[in-house]
Amino acid sequence: MVNTFEQANLQNTDLISLKSRIVSLEKIISLYEDNQEYKDLLSLYRTYISPSYDSVRLISAFDKKLKRINRSFNSKLSVQESPIITIGTILRILSVDDHLDSIMNQYNHEDIQIISLGSGSDLRFQLDRYKNIYSIIEIDFKDALLLKQESLPEPAKNVKFIDMDLNDTQTCIDALRANINSDKHVIILMECLLCYLPITVSSEYFSFFKDYIPVNNLHYLVYDPITISESDPFSNVMFDNLKKHNFLNLFALKEFKSINEYIDRFGIHKIQYKNLWQYLKDRPDMNDLCKLCQIDEFEELEILLSHYLIAYS
Ligand SMILES: C[S@@+](CC[C@H](N)C(=O)[O-])C[C@H]1O[C@@H](n2cnc3c(N)ncnc32)[C@H](O)[C@@H]1O
Repeated sequence: MVNTFEQANLQNTDLISLKSRIVSLEKIISLYEDNQEYKDLLSLYRTYISPSYDSVRLISAFDKKLKRINRSFNSKLSVQESPIITIGTILRILSVDDHLDSIMNQYNHEDIQIISLGSGSDLRFQLDRYKNIYSIIEIDFKDALLLKQESLPEPAKNVKFIDMDLNDTQTCIDALRANINSDKHVIILMECLLCYLPITVSSEYFSFFKDYIPVNNLHYLVYDPITISESDPFSNVMFDNLKKHNFLNLFALKEFKSINEYIDRFGIHKIQYKNLWQYLKDRPDMNDLCKLCQIDEFEELEILLSHYLIAYS
């Protein structure tokens, strides 16, 4: 189990990326003006961060620990964006959505269940495109899920929120067992979550999913920072910075020193993957995206994006 201080820091990881997510959605929409779904999503995020919401309702609803988060909520949202962070977040949004789509396009939506571990402020499952999915289970800390539910005028009926500390594996696995329908195609979504779980904890989840869900029905969609070589200076700096400034341990960065080692931990053979640099290069709109974000330093971008992986099955 995490303590209160650790929980606040873990939840903060979500708030830190919120501003960037909003800026990135605005940019995507400016490029693809007819994308109504991203417009709808942006409007959900705006409600989520609306000032009347976070300052009055949040403070009255939650305890001291969240008041601390709430203060940082506003300061984090005013942080100046850099082009490289914005394009990174744009690619995070697009890559997760693309790969989710490509898994969903293979099956009837009624035959799909999505389990989002560490779902935080992710609001995508409120969109109409997910309305026929058999069920979506979102797991995060209680405060994070309450905050989200309270911001939704009409939460989607097929989304169930389960508040839990994922480090309490026994309780979580019992809840997963009670809620997963292993006759369905089960997509385990972990967007920027796996890196924060201790290795013994994540291993328990991988073993449970492998044992509980028939391999043909088990699908992963994971977006995570990675270490790409034995002595990886970029990953060492990322690890040290998060530890020093955010009191966070990115366990997997120290444990898995190559993409192969990282992928092996899933324990199933059908995992495919791309780093985000490859993902960007494969996109026909690469130049438009780079122009949109005013990227002029490609060497730095390649190093950053090569340290993020999208893995799927
Ligand atoms: C970086 S955020 C990502 C949120 C969301 N997946 C997204 O991409 O928008 C990580 C999330 O994982 C949650 N998390 C981390 N460790 C957790 C734990 N032990 N139990 C429950 N949730 C956890 C945090 O509260 C946070 O919401």
